[in-house]
Amino acid sequence: MEESKYNIKQRIDELVKILNEANYNYHVLDKPTITDQEFDKYIRELIVLEEEHPDLIRDDSPTSRIGGTVLEGFEKITHEIPMLSLSNVFNESEIINFDSRIRKEGITPHYVCELKIDGLSVSLKYKNGKLVSAATRGDGVVGEDITNNAKTIKTIPLVIKQPIDIEVRGEIYMSKKTLENINRIRKENNQPLLQNCRNAAAGSIRQLDSKVAASRKLDCFIYHLPNPEDYGIKTHYEALEFMRDLGFKTNPNNKLVMDEKGILDFINYQTENRNKLPYDIDGIVIKLNSIQDQKRMGFTAKYPKWATAYKFPAEEVLTKLKDIIFTVGRTGQITPNAVLDPVIVMGSTISRATLHNEDFVISKDLKIGDIVSIRKAGDVIPEVVEVKKERRTGEEKDFEMINKCPICKEFIYKREGQVDYYCVNPLCPAKDIEGLCHFVSRKAMNIDGLGDRIIEDFYNMGYIKDFHDIYHLSNHRDSLTSLEGYGDKSIDNLINAIESSKKNSLERLLFALGIPNVGEKTAKLLATKYLSLDALMEATVEELTLIPDIGEIIAKCIVEYFGKRKNKDLIEKLKELGINTLYTGELIQETEEFQNKTFVITGSLVKYTRDEVEEKISLLGGKCTSSVSKKTSAVIVGENPGSKYDKARNLGIPIWSEDDIEELFKKYE
Ligand code: IVH
Repeated sequence: MEESKYNIKQRIDELVKILNEANYNYHVLDKPTITDQEFDKYIRELIVLEEEHPDLIRDDSPTSRIGGTVLEGFEKITHEIPMLSLSNVFNESEIINFDSRIRKEGITPHYVCELKIDGLSVSLKYKNGKLVSAATRGDGVVGEDITNNAKTIKTIPLVIKQPIDIEVRGEIYMSKKTLENINRIRKENNQPLLQNCRNAAAGSIRQLDSKVAASRKLDCFIYHLPNPEDYGIKTHYEALEFMRDLGFKTNPNNKLVMDEKGILDFINYQTENRNKLPYDIDGIVIKLNSIQDQKRMGFTAKYPKWATAYKFPAEEVLTKLKDIIFTVGRTGQITPNAVLDPVIVMGSTISRATLHNEDFVISKDLKIGDIVSIRKAGDVIPEVVEVKKERRTGEEKDFEMINKCPICKEFIYKREGQVDYYCVNPLCPAKDIEGLCHFVSRKAMNIDGLGDRIIEDFYNMGYIKDFHDIYHLSNHRDSLTSLEGYGDKSIDNLINAIESSKKNSLERLLFALGIPNVGEKTAKLLATKYLSLDALMEATVEELTLIPDIGEIIAKCIVEYFGKRKNKDLIEKLKELGINTLYTGELIQETEEFQNKTFVITGSLVKYTRDEVEEKISLLGGKCTSSVSKKTSAVIVGENPGSKYDKARNLGIPIWSEDDIEELFKKYE
């Protein structure tokens, strides 16, 4: 008996070895050594043996790649060495600056240029040569334990070629072909399509059921060794070779170059060839080769100073403008939208783009049937750049502005001096639904669990017609839980979220009400000046225009809104329901350095996020704008500042560093 168990263990060891090697040769080296039939035969044999002898299942068994574990949630993993992000450069002069900063330290740099793979970063840990954990980046310090799902990725070795302890980092991604295949099937099953390779990879790695993750056929390139010196490695290029020799998949395009000219040649070549790659990239990573030089350059809180990422410029593609359709926003605003022949721009399929208003369409001289160029930069919404007039055939149809609301068919109107048409029918359902979606949205009342679809359902079922109905939803609890798709738990969560939204500070309510021309910033300004809704409701146009940044148009919209009986009644009802109408945030201080002054931020900040700086400045009485002019009081400069820095210097505008603002912020804490 003992003897036979020993033989079985031996056979399992043998099968694991054969299968792991075959997997490596096939997936990493792209050089199959056994046939698919042989692979299947061995894996079936192993599955049977493991089923009969679960105590003999090895951690590095290739059967763990099939998936099967279903988790409740992901555990957290703390990264001993934080997983940093990269600073960005956008053009040749910024690359030269990056190189000069390194040379200024007395370094004669050699660089490794790499493709910037558009996926999500992962840290893999091996103990004694065996994969023990895989973690996402998370916030850089704490990530999520995705070991089960990482094991389903065939290019991540379960066991490496030396029995050592090591951590390596790289990028999990989905190939363009895999995304296409998945989306083809999803389309056939009427499921929503995955937007692009990066989102698809990120969504797949966070599947709690590792079988689903396995079905997504993810891949992984390894590009970083956090502790090179532990292995006697002196350059990044050597680290890449070392990791490749251990069995990791490294990118074959990685290139050692001798100077900045080498970097620019690499960028030009890869930019040309980018579309031919089987996966998406969003830039080029440039890394100082010598580990000693890397140490000399060091880190900021967010980035290594020895590496940077060149980001590709926004991609433009041509497509056909098939139609122009109109949508009605929550304020009744009518917007023309381009219906496009679907095209992939920067990895996502674009079939719609906003055309803003009638004037925009006229200024671009768009005709239906035109070939237009579409641009998309990163996560930014797509825009129509220009029409290719030379491609016109004469068949194109002129654009015609509508004069009736596409939903309720009532006439639409344009106010004098404004560019937008509005549907002013108070009974128009399009506005109601849009208005409700806005009311609950994240930056407004922030009611989690009331997505656009649910609002539409509840509206159509008659549960929610106006804002105050949201706060009566708990009365319909029984009817709601009996609806398909709304379980006890989700309705409970929703009711709790609705309840806690009652405590929101005034600016959220003001923004949520959807007063024409009162966006998030104006709402905050009004809330901090008036402190209560009652006080604001009493304000006159003259009084409001005394506030810097509130012009006559906004002031009139506010006074008009609160003058209407219907709105007064609504506010009364909201108050009766216990919704807070006071400002409960921090108060604005009057400060010499910021009061009524205008600032511009440029470059990457390290100690604060841009939103934090903007928020703090507004609480100290100042404001931030995006472009530098003579009126700018100071420019706040972070790392790798752009042209705004040069402009500020030319205009003689004071330059403040992050340390400067930190000191000023501390003064008023
Ligand atoms: S190196 C300390 N190399 O880009 C070194 N990152 O924008 C840190 N990325 O978080 C990263 N390809 O997810 C590096 N060849 C590459 C990369 C790469 C893609 C991602 C990575 C990182 C992000 C920074």
